[in-house]
Amino acid sequence: MSSSAPQGRTPLIAGNWKMFKTVAEAEAFVAGLLPEISSLSGVDVGICPSFLSLQAVVDSARGSRLEVYAQNMHYAQDGAFTGEVSPPMLAEVGVTGTILGHSERREHFAESDRTLQLKVPAALDAGLRPILCVGETEEEREQGDTERKLRHQVQEDLMKVETERLGDVVIAYEPIWAIGTGKVATPDQAQEAIAFVRALVGDRSPEQAQRVRILYGGSVKPENAAELLALPDVDGALVGGASLEPRSLTAIAAAAAAAA
Ligand code: PGA
Repeated sequence: MSSSAPQGRTPLIAGNWKMFKTVAEAEAFVAGLLPEISSLSGVDVGICPSFLSLQAVVDSARGSRLEVYAQNMHYAQDGAFTGEVSPPMLAEVGVTGTILGHSERREHFAESDRTLQLKVPAALDAGLRPILCVGETEEEREQGDTERKLRHQVQEDLMKVETERLGDVVIAYEPIWAIGTGKVATPDQAQEAIAFVRALVGDRSPEQAQRVRILYGGSVKPENAAELLALPDVDGALVGGASLEPRSLTAIAAAAAAAA
């Protein structure tokens, strides 16, 4: 049992495919997934393919409940930004939203809180739902710096979002030490960090803090999903490795539906 249902927060299970799957593989995945998720209710299910697969996946998912998200987005409407993709380009394709600030982009592609400050409101203005990722490194956790890091990221990255729109953002708490490592946060660690993130949103608006969906991410698998998704402040999961197979993504979505 979780507190998500009474507060009206529908859980979201989003599969972050990172740099996996060609267009053909993505289409085959959707064909396999749609019948599996058709009977699930009370949970939103999304996948986040590469830019190249977005149009094909949106087309394959049309008429279904499957949501489609990009993995990144530039903040400008257009301009001389070689290799980047703009909010109107994503909106035209028909995606639901986009991941922003994933730790892999922060680490390998110099994604900064300054650019995220522009990207999050730019997504909302384009009618796209941002999934903003935050989280601490192993070293930061060991040094007792988890809350400082989360406070910094949440406050900076949401600074330019209008208060009444905070609840339209999805936040994914992803401890970096748990991503792709098989080392999942304990339920206590996940609940504590996510309740802290919700309280940070509450510093700006208690009402929006009740609306905002906060996901856990980091080595979520069918075997550990039920325990994490039953936590009172956990409103779903951002799933990497286990989202690459329709069956394991469906099993995680079913666990979220059961916990809601
Ligand atoms: P993982 O990735 O589930 O493979 O740990 C999660 C993520 O990076 O969003």
